[in-house]
Amino acid sequence: MKSSSTKSHPPWLPVPFFLVFCLHVIATAESSRVAASAGAFRRKLDDIAGSIDIDCGLPTGATYTDPITEIPYIADDAYITTGVNSEISSIHISDDLPVPLRTLRSFPEGDRNCYSMRPPEGRDKIYLIRATFLYGNYDDNDRLPEFDVFVGVNRWASLRFDNASHVVNKEIIHVPPLDHIYICLVNTGLGTPFISALEVRHFHNSTYTSVSGAPLVLYERLDFGSATGEIIRYNDDAYDRMWYPYNCYSCGTINTTLTIDSVNRTDFNLPSKVMKTATRPTDENKPLSFELNTREATLDFYIYMHFAELEALQEGESRVFDISLNGIVLRRNVVPIYLHSTTITSPQSVRGSKLNFLLSKSMNSTHPPILNALEVFVIRPFWQSPTDQADVDAIEDIKSTYGVQKGWQGDPCAPIHPWNGLNCSNNGYRPYRIISLNLSSSGLTGQIPISLSNLHMLEHLDLSNNSISGEVPLFLSELPSLRTLNLGGNQLSGPVPSSFIEKSNNGSLILSLHGNPKLCTQSPCKKKKSSIFVPVIATIVPLFVITLAFLILWKYKRSTKGKRIGKSHGALGSGMKLESREFTYQEIIRITDNFRTIIGKGGFGVVYHGHLDDGTRTEVAIKLLSPSATHGSIQFQTEAQLLTRIHHKNLASFVGYCNDGTNVAILYEYMAGGDLEKYISVLDCSRRVLSWKERLQIALDAAQGLEYLHIGCKPPIVHRDVKTSNILLNDKMQAKIADFGLSKLFPVESQSYLSTRVVGTVGYLDPEYYTSNRLTEKSDVYSFGIVLLQLITGRPAIIVGHNENTHIGNWARPLIAKGDLRNLVDPRLLGNFDTNSAWKLLEVSISCIRSISIQRPMMNHVVSELKECLDAEVANEESARVNEDGEVEEEFNNDSFAMSSSTKGVELEQGPEAR
Ligand SMILES: *[C@@H]1O[C@H](CO)[C@@H](O)[C@H](O)[C@H]1NC(C)=O
Ligand SMILES: *[C@@H]1O[C@H](CO)[C@@H](O)[C@H](O)[C@H]1NC(C)=O
Ligand SMILES: *[C@@H]1O[C@H](CO)[C@@H](O)[C@H](O)[C@H]1NC(C)=O
Ligand SMILES: *[C@@H]1O[C@H](CO)[C@@H](O)[C@H](O)[C@H]1NC(C)=O
Ligand SMILES: *[C@@H]1O[C@H](CO)[C@@H](O)[C@H](O)[C@H]1NC(C)=O
Ligand SMILES: *[C@@H]1O[C@H](CO)[C@@H](O)[C@H](O)[C@H]1NC(C)=O
Ligand SMILES: *[C@@H]1O[C@H](CO)[C@@H](O)[C@H](O)[C@H]1NC(C)=O
Repeated sequence: MKSSSTKSHPPWLPVPFFLVFCLHVIATAESSRVAASAGAFRRKLDDIAGSIDIDCGLPTGATYTDPITEIPYIADDAYITTGVNSEISSIHISDDLPVPLRTLRSFPEGDRNCYSMRPPEGRDKIYLIRATFLYGNYDDNDRLPEFDVFVGVNRWASLRFDNASHVVNKEIIHVPPLDHIYICLVNTGLGTPFISALEVRHFHNSTYTSVSGAPLVLYERLDFGSATGEIIRYNDDAYDRMWYPYNCYSCGTINTTLTIDSVNRTDFNLPSKVMKTATRPTDENKPLSFELNTREATLDFYIYMHFAELEALQEGESRVFDISLNGIVLRRNVVPIYLHSTTITSPQSVRGSKLNFLLSKSMNSTHPPILNALEVFVIRPFWQSPTDQADVDAIEDIKSTYGVQKGWQGDPCAPIHPWNGLNCSNNGYRPYRIISLNLSSSGLTGQIPISLSNLHMLEHLDLSNNSISGEVPLFLSELPSLRTLNLGGNQLSGPVPSSFIEKSNNGSLILSLHGNPKLCTQSPCKKKKSSIFVPVIATIVPLFVITLAFLILWKYKRSTKGKRIGKSHGALGSGMKLESREFTYQEIIRITDNFRTIIGKGGFGVVYHGHLDDGTRTEVAIKLLSPSATHGSIQFQTEAQLLTRIHHKNLASFVGYCNDGTNVAILYEYMAGGDLEKYISVLDCSRRVLSWKERLQIALDAAQGLEYLHIGCKPPIVHRDVKTSNILLNDKMQAKIADFGLSKLFPVESQSYLSTRVVGTVGYLDPEYYTSNRLTEKSDVYSFGIVLLQLITGRPAIIVGHNENTHIGNWARPLIAKGDLRNLVDPRLLGNFDTNSAWKLLEVSISCIRSISIQRPMMNHVVSELKECLDAEVANEESARVNEDGEVEEEFNNDSFAMSSSTKGVELEQGPEAR
């Protein structure tokens, strides 16, 4: 409680209004008693959420409670990184000078320096922002500076001082459109900007709102009828509004000792001390009349008048009056409520170099009009929208990721000029967009952050001459407007995604990658360009291309056959387990029990279930092939013999074949689990959902099968038709690749095969194979990448849409760039997967489906990546099992999604791209 109000409200506080025909009544005698009676209604400022009280220029981390106002102030170092702390000259310090004004922060460097505050209530709420300035000759220059203050990107006020001890208070009521409130001090060339104190208060949203929603700059805040001359603020006013005493000429006062709003308060939360005094005309029969001289004919004023009846009116007595301003009636028949506040606002803004208030008694009223308090604001529309929030978030992320030290503060694009290194589009008053970013020679390390992909309007990006490492990320090529990209002089490694090279070649992107010694930009890496649009391939391929391909293959086979067999024997020797066995057609009939059970249908024919009649009753699958003259050839015989010698735990082994010239069949190991395709589709509910670990295991099994074909076999065997339906599962869910080598067996004339089978399957087909007609192991790697993507996402290779079908790669890439794991991973997993593992698998699959084949990894590399994934998963499972005894199991729950969104950037960057 204050002991002396004269001390508590010293003369430093300005009285910034112009009164005409009015007098200040200064009375101090009763002030202590009045203050004491108001004590019961004091509230703590802490009650008012969102208050920020900054004493600018305090030493880092310092805090104190103002001895007079009892407001707790903090230093400003958490809100700004630039500027110099100073104290005002000692001759301007007196006992009366509020503590917050004794220090200040000045800004000798930079055109604009911004405080950044983030009140917990967030955007779209009503805030009172008050900035206080006292020059006090802090710099011993004795030269009064002039400068501007901005709220965000809009000018709030221009600061001028009458003398070195002139305290200037600026107050604005503002509804910030973004989460951060930026207060920027702008150097206009007339001296160094500074600031002494900065305060933010949060108001209830039903209070101070202008008709247009535009900010309100405080013009006057008056307490009528006060006999003490005291300026009332916190903690009489819970919001720390400052009420200046005001008494007009030929006005009397009335007051009450009772408390106003003791039962309940309005949202304005008006201080009782202000409301319990009021003014009234000295002559009861005259209207209450006063005039404020604004001297500003062009400003739009907005009025809040606060009333409370202070007299207990008797039966038959009444106080009713009309209010008009500059001759316009604002409200008729106002009846103040006894000891309760009512606020009346002007229905629209008012202009005039004088504001002429007239409160006139209604005809039947027995009592004259009164007025307890008045607030006058100037409407200050903020025309300019701040920078697009997505751009702000992205650039803030880049700033923190790279620890950019360029004095980046406030809005990235305005006021005055954008951040150093940025350029923004000027869209009139619409939000600014960032169109160029130049962080050349800024000492950046680490990888290229994914948040760059959110700068959608970016046209120019220069990250040259830093120490950026990692790969050139694909998402950069997906920035729709990017026209120049300079990544030169860094430590980038790995291949350059083909889309960059395509864009660079067709002139839509000026690409500079020089000076990255580990980056693969040489001609072997970027010589091939190819269309990625797989889905159409099989349907629009001109037939002659395919025919040509097969002519070449056929020729190749003929010329190398003999040599190959010889070599194969050596290479496959150790893998030999079963004798190659030829079955007769009669045997096939017995084995299949006269073709009783069909277990599948493929391009080569129908697959039947059977039991060997050799006493073991071994289950087998028998693929009965469509008859063809070629099948009976010596060549088929040799190839089939060869294939039966290939054995690997992840290859469905050949049991034998039948070839009697008319009927051709292949017998292979029966796989009780059926093919993978049946498990993949998110739409197929008939099969149980494969767990994440099972998927990893299946991917690894299949990869090992392919690795054996590619690397274990000499010469390598290219499968040519890797797809989910050719990956079979046994009863232990072990995966084996089926149908390998079959395409070689059937270089048949039948062209119906050619277009569908031998070229590959739509969606899995290597786009480069299509354009180059060159078939390599990398074609299988591509197809395997699609299988991996399917395992992760549970989607088919071609996703059928309403209007168009989408290839799974084209569907997944933008989601990966966005880090949108939630929409990528098979929803049936219900989040039961490890995000690191998922990202890693995605990375592997994307590296497999690169359109340029030589940029794809070899299968042995894929195998080692998948092994790592599976090992991590097993380790996770074990630690989770340990946790079950005590701690909550954390690895497998639905929060994986939440985790993924918060850490996706890091994970993508750290993900091991296939090298
Ligand atoms: C400084 O300026 C303020 C505001 O104009 C004025 O009230 C005050 O008297 C001046 N002080 C001196 C010492 O001139
Ligand atoms: C005030 O806020 C409440 C809840 O936040 C909202 O329902 C209401 O519409 C807001 N009123 C105004 C005038 O914005
Ligand atoms: C209340 O009114 C009385 C008589 O008019 C006056 O003496 C007294 O100072 C007033 N009190 C306040 C707090 O204004
Ligand atoms: C607050 O008090 C006033 C006057 O007694 C009354 O008119 C109003 O309805 C009250 N409001 C609430 C929410 O109690
Ligand atoms: C004033 O009083 C007269 C007679 O009692 C009544 O007819 C009239 O409606 C009243 N006017 C107002 C504004 O209350
Ligand atoms: C920023 O972009 C504008 C076009 O929007 C251009 O006129 C200006 O020269 C650019 N400034 C810099 C520094 O690149
Ligand atoms: C980026 O800034 C550097 C100097 O800091 C300059 O040499 C380079 O030309 C700028 N890049 C672009 C694209 O403007």
